[in-house]
Amino acid sequence: GSLKMYVDPLPDMPKLNGYSGSGNSRRPGSLTIGMYQKKWQFHRDLPPTTVFVYGTSLANATFPGPTIIAKQGTPLQVTWQNHLPQHHILPIDTTVPTAIPKNGGVPTVVHLHGGVHEPQSDGSALAWFTADFSEKGPKWTKATYTYPNILHAANLWYHDHALGLTRANLLAGLIGAYNIQNDDVETPFDLPCDEYDRHLIIVDRNFNVDGSLYMNSTGDNPTIHPEWQPEYFGEAIIVNGKAWPYLTVKPRRYRFRILNASNARYLRLSLSNGLQFIVIGSDSSYLNAPVATPSVLLAPAEISDVVIDFSRLTSNETELLNDAPYPYPTGSPAGPLNGKVMKFVLARPNPTQPDNSTIPVKQVNYPLPSAADATVTRYIAMYEYLSPAGLSTHLYINGKRFEDPATESPKVGSIELWEVINLTGDNHPLHIHLGLFQRIKVQQLVNLTDFQNCMSANNDAVACNISRHATGPTMAVPEYEKTWKNVVKMEPGYVTSVIVRFNLVDQKSQYPFDPTAEPGYVYHCHILDHEDNAMIRPLKMVA
Ligand code: C2O
Ligand code: CU
Repeated sequence: GSLKMYVDPLPDMPKLNGYSGSGNSRRPGSLTIGMYQKKWQFHRDLPPTTVFVYGTSLANATFPGPTIIAKQGTPLQVTWQNHLPQHHILPIDTTVPTAIPKNGGVPTVVHLHGGVHEPQSDGSALAWFTADFSEKGPKWTKATYTYPNILHAANLWYHDHALGLTRANLLAGLIGAYNIQNDDVETPFDLPCDEYDRHLIIVDRNFNVDGSLYMNSTGDNPTIHPEWQPEYFGEAIIVNGKAWPYLTVKPRRYRFRILNASNARYLRLSLSNGLQFIVIGSDSSYLNAPVATPSVLLAPAEISDVVIDFSRLTSNETELLNDAPYPYPTGSPAGPLNGKVMKFVLARPNPTQPDNSTIPVKQVNYPLPSAADATVTRYIAMYEYLSPAGLSTHLYINGKRFEDPATESPKVGSIELWEVINLTGDNHPLHIHLGLFQRIKVQQLVNLTDFQNCMSANNDAVACNISRHATGPTMAVPEYEKTWKNVVKMEPGYVTSVIVRFNLVDQKSQYPFDPTAEPGYVYHCHILDHEDNAMIRPLKMVA
């Protein structure tokens, strides 16, 4: 049977300041955050579930982990500690490139997603470590990571990035939110704040009746991969660690920083009873001006920062719904369980404190993307390889393995045009570490089969006449995504033109670290099951 919806209140994760002091005497911060195995209650009627979670102690560890609040320009050092046991709680599959410690333990390494920081603190998939740093991956450099927080005001998040284990480690709970605030910039926006400013971290999960996490342990294609599945999908929708929670709201504006932290599920969110989202930011950047929309599509790892005005609600409640097919865009339609996310219930009697928040007319003034600014054009092709029976065996970018030498070597400070060619049947969320980027054109490929055949034979978009195939209809980029993002969606059978900045959007300054250092960065698909097998490539910055 299924769990009753809307019986658990929406939790808030604990907050940690990523700085010390305040105002003019603000000083750099330092935190120690551990990874722990513990039991977590996802629902009133579900037995507690064993999870792997972040916290400043075992008792404080939560699913998701604590929300880190950093201030722009104030660096933060975090010592990430692994206190996990000898064995994983989920099936792992060593037939995909995987961190394998000799003496057991769960390899982990933390990536601050969307962060602009040195490679040594980026959480390289090869910089993993086990409990008490007893074993370390080949690219491990240090235990304490430095986040300079030089990016503009931003919604980031942190999560595990160990080689071949991201799908299992994130599924187990190694995720958390991280904000960079700039009070000078943001206070004048007068957006809803404090208790009216909430994170919604959404994931999908399946559970066994004993409460344990369920992940199919037989691969789709078991003769090649005994356990690996091309996409994990769960029926239960979890928000801030509770299945289908509810939030009691006042008839006023609220801000929600919505993160899709699912492995593979896209979320196309809308509100019942005709309420709209007023989108103020996408991923790590504000929009230049807010955009009202009835629905928002979030691929895995995308963030939408929205305001909802519950004073416009003409009924007592509104449901947050999801109608994205899975896999996206041509898989099963969302069903009665995974089609519901959470419920907002109006407080009774309606309190009548004034709502002093506003929706700013204008927010920031980030430069618009322009192909004319790009000094280099790259063709990036996404492939899925199938067994003769048509089952997925692996996914590659440009036909290359992760361990093959870097072919993408952008110049520090440059702006590039990436023409991303999706030759697979599914949408893929592309994530590029260090870079800030946005889609400027999404164009269908014509005579796709001919082009696919040519590309699988020689993997050269120019030789395969990309310009003669990239002539189909275009798809509009939604207004609510038009800012500097860190994840962009790649439509199947389309070429998507992406402007990628390897510099800062709102500052003239250079990076205060050496981005060319080892172990470098990566770019990858953020469907975690794809990233692990092995839709991930090195990104080697050059001077
Ligand atoms: Cu959010 Cu390389 O990851
Ligand atoms: Cu993918």
